[in-house]
Amino acid sequence: MTDEVKYGLAGVVADDTAVSKVMPETNSLTYRGYAVQDLATKCRWEEVAYLIWNRELPTGAQLDAFVALERKERGISADMVKLIRMLNPKAHPMDTLRTAVSFMGQADNTAEDSSPAGLYDKSIRMFAQIPEIVAADFRVRNGKEPIPATKDLGFCENFFHMCFGKVPAPEIVKCFDISMTLYAEHSFNASTFTARTIASSLSDIYSAVTGGIGSLKGPLHGGANEAVMHLLMEVGSADRAEAWMLQALKEKRNIMGFGHRVYKKGDSRVPTMTDAFRKMVDVIGTKEAKEYWEMSRILDDVMVREKGIYPNLDFPTGPAYYLMGFEIPIFTPIFVISRITGWTAHVMEQRAANKLVRPLSNYIGVAQRDVVPIERR
Ligand code: COA
Repeated sequence: MTDEVKYGLAGVVADDTAVSKVMPETNSLTYRGYAVQDLATKCRWEEVAYLIWNRELPTGAQLDAFVALERKERGISADMVKLIRMLNPKAHPMDTLRTAVSFMGQADNTAEDSSPAGLYDKSIRMFAQIPEIVAADFRVRNGKEPIPATKDLGFCENFFHMCFGKVPAPEIVKCFDISMTLYAEHSFNASTFTARTIASSLSDIYSAVTGGIGSLKGPLHGGANEAVMHLLMEVGSADRAEAWMLQALKEKRNIMGFGHRVYKKGDSRVPTMTDAFRKMVDVIGTKEAKEYWEMSRILDDVMVREKGIYPNLDFPTGPAYYLMGFEIPIFTPIFVISRITGWTAHVMEQRAANKLVRPLSNYIGVAQRDVVPIERR
């Protein structure tokens, strides 16, 4: 018997990081030392992306250069559009995105350049092109022509433009912008650790991101924002919410959008996102928007009251993305549009001080035995 097994690596500190710090005891999260709430409300998303990679917030000139660089990298290849059209329209958009990023890596002759500059270039390229891949897939699935990226719009506005051909009210764009900041980075979560593990074998950054996408897809991780929306649809209306939750708890159902491996007293990102969601609901002003808002409030209150389990970030982002007009299966790809920053910053950090990730296992199979030749079995 080896040492005690830490199932799910719970409580295991696997490496150092300077990208973000999760402090469950105070329900707080910082990126490069800045509280996420502060970043989400005082900075636009491009500033935060710059910070995650470059360790400091940009000056005006640095931001202009960064924005120009991102815009220069926009524009997916004709082959990428062809690939998107060719893939199975019934597959989950995360499967399409995973394949598309793998294709990007295969098409990039510099994929193996893992120098700091090489990793940065490829990170910006994925940052600039993944939104267009997600938007193109969204439109092709709906029988529409992809809308190419425009270099005249900001990151978030451009994504709306590529999905819908128009940019919504500033409050709606701001809500999306805030969700980008809040989803960007969260220390050694499953997908980030997957990306670091892949990078630790000195594999290329596209492989690391492709693996990260595969990990994020699961409903216990990024897929929860989609599951939250299905749950809200199942609840149906605010006046059914309390009874629905009590019944679900009685049946011991796993309620999507609640609970967290690290935060046990509330997810630091939720109040900021909930506030942005509420502001957006006020602007949209429809009965449907108000209903989802009310329903969410009741489910949250009942879960905290009955179980002491708090909502995580996926709880407000699910309905927020839905009310922005996105289809449920692209909620997790939208998460990727943001988390590409955190993953790639971790890949850079891993490569800068690499140690191959290779834990031990506790063998519980049959004891060693002799092979009996086939004719005697
Ligand atoms: N619904 C119902 N019960 C939940 C719950 C949820 N969402 N999350 C935790 N619990 C319960 C567990 O069943 C457990 O009950 P038990 O003690 O009777 O066995 C108890 O709360 C403690 O769970 P814990 O060990 O703290 O959870 P975990 O760290 O293993 O799991 C998650 C964390 C995220 C996997 C889990 O909370 C979950 O599945 N949540 C829903 C999916 C989700 O929203 N994922 C996104 C995460 S950001």
